[in-house]
Parts: sequence; C-alpha cells; structure tokens
Amino acid sequence: MKKMLALVLSCIMVLAIAGCGGGDNAPASSSSSSSAAQTGGKKIGVAMPTQSSQRWIADGKNMKEKLEKLGYTVDLQYAEDDVQAQVSQIENMITNGANCLVVASIDSNALVNVLDQAKANNIPVIAYDRLLMDTDSVSYYATFDNKGVGVAIGKYIEDKMGLKEGKGPYNIEFFAGSPDDNNAHFLNTGVFEVLQPYLTSGQLVCVSGQTSFDAICTLRWSQETAQKRMEDILSGYYSTGKNLDIVVSPFDGISYGISAALEGAGYKVGQKWPMISGQDAELMASKNILSGKQSMTIFKDTRILADKCVKMVQAVLEGGQPEINDTTSYNNNKKIVPAYLCSPVPVDKSNLQKELIDSGYYKKAELE
Ligand code: BGC
Repeated sequence: MKKMLALVLSCIMVLAIAGCGGGDNAPASSSSSSSAAQTGGKKIGVAMPTQSSQRWIADGKNMKEKLEKLGYTVDLQYAEDDVQAQVSQIENMITNGANCLVVASIDSNALVNVLDQAKANNIPVIAYDRLLMDTDSVSYYATFDNKGVGVAIGKYIEDKMGLKEGKGPYNIEFFAGSPDDNNAHFLNTGVFEVLQPYLTSGQLVCVSGQTSFDAICTLRWSQETAQKRMEDILSGYYSTGKNLDIVVSPFDGISYGISAALEGAGYKVGQKWPMISGQDAELMASKNILSGKQSMTIFKDTRILADKCVKMVQAVLEGGQPEINDTTSYNNNKKIVPAYLCSPVPVDKSNLQKELIDSGYYKKAELE
C-alpha cells in the first residue's frame, strides 16, 4: 500500500514538473500580469514616420499603451517624414539602451546602417506596417495584407462600376503611394491585377496615359504633390469637356488632394463627381464618405496591428513564438521576413456604421 502511495505521489510530482516546463514554452503573451513581471522595465524604442496623418498617431498611441500595460518602458518618436531625423532617433534609442526596436520607416532602404548598429548591439528589430528593406537585422514584420488592399480597391471599382457585366467605357486616373515604401508597390500591384484587364478591353480608359508606377507614384504620400498632379491632369486632359469617372487613390490624404483639385476645377459633389478610393479610414475621409466626396476607404484596424506587433516584441524579448501567418511574401532582398498580415476591410457608406462605429473605432458624435 505504502509503495502504491509513493508511486502515485512521484507520478504527481513528475506531472507537476512537466507542467512547469510547459509553462516556459507557452506563448509569452499568456497573461498580462505574468508578462509584466517578466518584462522588468525593458525599453522599447518605437520609431514612427509622421504625425501628419491620423493613422500613425493612432499606431503610436496604441503601441505605447499596450507595451506600457505589460511593464515595458516606451520611447516613442515621430520623425515628421524626415529620413535623417529618423536615423538619428533610432541611433539615440540604441545609445539610450533600447532592448528592442519597432520601426515604421519613412524610406525603407535608408535604415540599413543604423539597423546594423542595432544588430551589433543585440537589439532585435521588428518592422511595423512598412517592410525594412535590404537588411537582415529585422526579425519579424507586422502589417496588413498590402497587396490585398490594392485588390480590394480594384474589386470595389469593378463591382460598383459593373465592369464584370461589361459596362463602360469609363475614364480613370491612377495615383500610387511613395516609391520608397514597399507597401506602395504591393498595393499598386493589387490594383492593376484587378483593373488591367479592363484597361486592355477598353472598358477603362486612362486619358492621361499615366499608368506606370513611376508616372503615378507620390513621394512621401504627399497630399500637396497629389493635388498638383491632379490639377495638371485636369487642365491637360479633361478641360475640353471629357468627364473623369474614377480616381484610384491609395491613401486618404491623397484623396483630399484629389478632391481639392477637382473642386478647384469646378467639379461638384453629386454632379458628375468621380468615384474616389482611399486608405486608412481617417476621420476626415469617413466624413467625406458620408457626404459623398469620397466613395470608399480601406479600414486598417491599428488596434489589431498593435496587438500582433506587441506579441512579436514579447517573443523576441521573453522567448516564445509570435503569431506568424506569412512566410513567403515579404522578401526584403536579404531575407524573407516572417510576417503577420492583418486583414484590410473596404468601407463605404453601406458598412461604415458597422465597421467604424459599432467596432468602437470612432464615436458616432465624432463623425457628425
Ligand atoms: C501604410 C498606409 C498609409 C501610407 C501613408 C503606408 O505605408 O501602409 O496605411 O496610408 O503608408 O501613410
């Protein structure tokens, strides 16, 4: 009987020890209180590109709040689209003893040297939303499905304009994002994957003839640059009475520039006003969707992106595996960076309430 009892007790002990071992391998995010104990005030440098667009302000705020809740110390910096300023900010983060860097780059090719410094100091780097190019000093990439954003814009146009049913011809102009941002290329590939067949068939006509990435890109995603280009296109190709039916815009800020140019040329919302796309579901864009000035945007829930990125921070600092759902798409010329791709959601008048208000992203009053 005594022997039996001893055997049962030793089995219980073995199981208990095995259980503890399992805990070590459990995802670091298993509970926020235990994570807070583990983080021991480690410093995270968060480098964001600019405060000139609402999304990056939300990204920075979410990241800071979520990391601080877990017990990390956060150094959040914005470089206001100044590439050199971002390099200096990251250098300072390294000098000040950052344990991990989260970087949303301005120019994704310009950080190679400073990221090498991070690597030399054993500081892991996570690419946030924008891929860090030409470097093997990056561990993970948290982003949205960037080609998927372009496909969603293309499909919206295809659907609403009845292109599959053979409708057209419609006049269309294209805008793309910044050439130094890998996302801009992915997005543009998605747009053309859907719309190129209709350009070929003649259901879509790009009157300016400007369809190559080089011709349609917008350095730093600048609203002013986009407005100027739209003004030039309107005066150069549409002043003789041709109507512009569709404008592909890859970012809400660019859509504002396009709208301003249209208004300047005498176009009026509701009267032959073109379909205009966008990206980011900024507050102003959401209001413009309700008023008819912008047709749609792509909602990228920055709360979800921050959650995924924080899990990557925990994984590189505390051990464990982050959630990864893509190991093939993001080759930065040095390595394929393991990524988590969040899902972008197209939003127009029909689902704005559900996606942006019911989800708590905006309060109804903010949109009035
Ligand atoms: C982001 C977009 C954003 C754009 C301009 C891109 O890298 O993925 O969400 O609209 O930058 O800030």
